[in-house]
Amino acid sequence: MKIKTVEYVGTIATPNQKRPGPLPQIAFSGRSNVGKSSLINVVLKRNRKAIARVSSTPGKTQAINFFEVNGEFYLVDLPGFGYAQVPKKLRDAWRGLIEGYLSSEEGPIGVVHLVDCRRPPTELDLQMLDYLSGVGLPTLVVLTKMDKLKSQRAREVAIDTAAKDLGIDRDQLVPFSSLSGEGRDALAGALGGLLRGAGG
Ligand code: GTP
Ligand code: MG
Repeated sequence: MKIKTVEYVGTIATPNQKRPGPLPQIAFSGRSNVGKSSLINVVLKRNRKAIARVSSTPGKTQAINFFEVNGEFYLVDLPGFGYAQVPKKLRDAWRGLIEGYLSSEEGPIGVVHLVDCRRPPTELDLQMLDYLSGVGLPTLVVLTKMDKLKSQRAREVAIDTAAKDLGIDRDQLVPFSSLSGEGRDALAGALGGLLRGAGG
């Protein structure tokens, strides 16, 4: 996939809001600090500014942000979950917003879920993957920050453990590093495959 243009096209902040247009969407999810903004910037081959600017705007961080890529699809940035300090009420609102979006007929054709290669998946990761398989959305899991694992042995253990903990096949897992660029092409290829599958 060649990235020609990327444009921020809109935000959904409440469950009743409409998506910005009719293009197919691929959503990105994961706990906060997992490396999602960095990954999106690497996949889109942008410098950090273009997208990080939007994500750090107050009020938009807890919302669903849409970026139009090549005029062909929307890359959708879901709000990060797992902030320890977030009160239960806000977490419930977050869940309502995300689940409403994911299960909508106008929702994404697939989801990329990010997990830190050095941390065991949380209850929220498992719930998210359960939810996605429940609604039948194709899901790809990315293991982020692989550059932190130096030895081949540590890499293999991390990949095997993640697959086992998450109950998925190894080939559903993409090892990734925003620092080294590892996994960038594999992920871009998988996104292209998803879009072709959707007739996009
Ligand atoms: P929030 O939007 O704040 O929830 O975080 P995020 O998931 O978007 O993560 P972000 O991309 O902002 O990265 C969080 C931290 O991890 C930053 O300090 C990044 O520099 C670091 N980081 C992200 N990706 C990588 C990576 O591949 N390798 C390493 N070593 N650090 C990374
Ligand atoms: Mg972010």
